[in-house]
Amino acid sequence: MGRTGTHVIVIGNEKGGSGKSTTGFHLAIYLLYQGYKVASIDVDSRQQTFTTYVKNRRNWAQQRDLKLPHTTHFHLPIPKSDSIKENQKLEFDLFRQAVVEVEGVADFLVVDTPGFDTHLTRLAHSLADTLITPLNDSLIDLDVMAHVDPVTGDPREMSHYARLVQRARTERLAIDGRTIDWILVRNRISMLSSRSMRLVQSAIEKIAVRLGCRVAEGIAERVIFRSLFPMGLTVFDPLDEELLGGLPSMSHLSARQEYRQLLDALRLPISERAAARNAAMAAFAEGQGNVGQFEHMATSS
Ligand SMILES: Nc1ncnc2c1ncn2[C@@H]1O[C@H](COP(=O)(O)OP(=O)(O)OP(=O)(O)O)[C@@H](O)[C@H]1O
Ligand SMILES: [Mg+2]
Repeated sequence: MGRTGTHVIVIGNEKGGSGKSTTGFHLAIYLLYQGYKVASIDVDSRQQTFTTYVKNRRNWAQQRDLKLPHTTHFHLPIPKSDSIKENQKLEFDLFRQAVVEVEGVADFLVVDTPGFDTHLTRLAHSLADTLITPLNDSLIDLDVMAHVDPVTGDPREMSHYARLVQRARTERLAIDGRTIDWILVRNRISMLSSRSMRLVQSAIEKIAVRLGCRVAEGIAERVIFRSLFPMGLTVFDPLDEELLGGLPSMSHLSARQEYRQLLDALRLPISERAAARNAAMAAFAEGQGNVGQFEHMATSS
């Protein structure tokens, strides 16, 4: 696995609202269900969407007495001081403390970053073993990666975020000789095909070649993601009425299928420890029915 036994997954993109927090949260919950120990850090101290997702999940589980798996979560405080320097120092100290605490304990650490450049966003990027960049399917969103020729889709100049990642990669290589596996994920894909969407797709592929990253088949535009947020649920949670507070739909199943494909495409490392735990839990679930397995998968709160 990573440097310390904990594989660090960073979700980043300077474009706001591209699906970072939603993707990061889904990924974390998926890994919990796979039997891994998962920690998460929300570096977005202003919006704290990931943290709200975590809190919503805990509340929902508590109110209904449900045994859901939870990540060991850390978040930064909303900045109080007027001094940028003071805030930066406080955030950095808390971030470092969280990373030290999970090192070697968690199998995976998922770090959600804000849609803008901060000192911690940069630091988080250079710690990544896997970097996931969700991209909405439009030329406007691609502009965050590279300025693209509107007719041919050829990338021209690399943009600020792409340069930030390249810098993080160079730093990382100098520090411990590791590379960051960078994956672009198309998110909120429209079900309707159009010329402009085909242009976007071909532009993403060309950008990926230029930047040395991979492209994963993404997630379609589905209202279900917005409806799961207030309950802190994901498409990986069991789709029964008790959990959802309503009936599951076909859209849940399709979204789950898409996310699974995406997660396969990430090619995350599987440790022997976690694989053994997973096998033990699968055997247990088979003997006991599915209800008990949540208890065993839950990490500390
Ligand atoms: N595949 C999808 N289909 C429909 N809506 C989606 C999808 N993915 C995310 N969303 C919705 O898009 C909005 C933005 O998503 P999210 O908060 O995950 O983005 P973000 O990149 O973390 O934003 P920010 O940059 O502000 O932190 C949310 O309302 C979320 O529910
Ligand atoms: Mg976010």
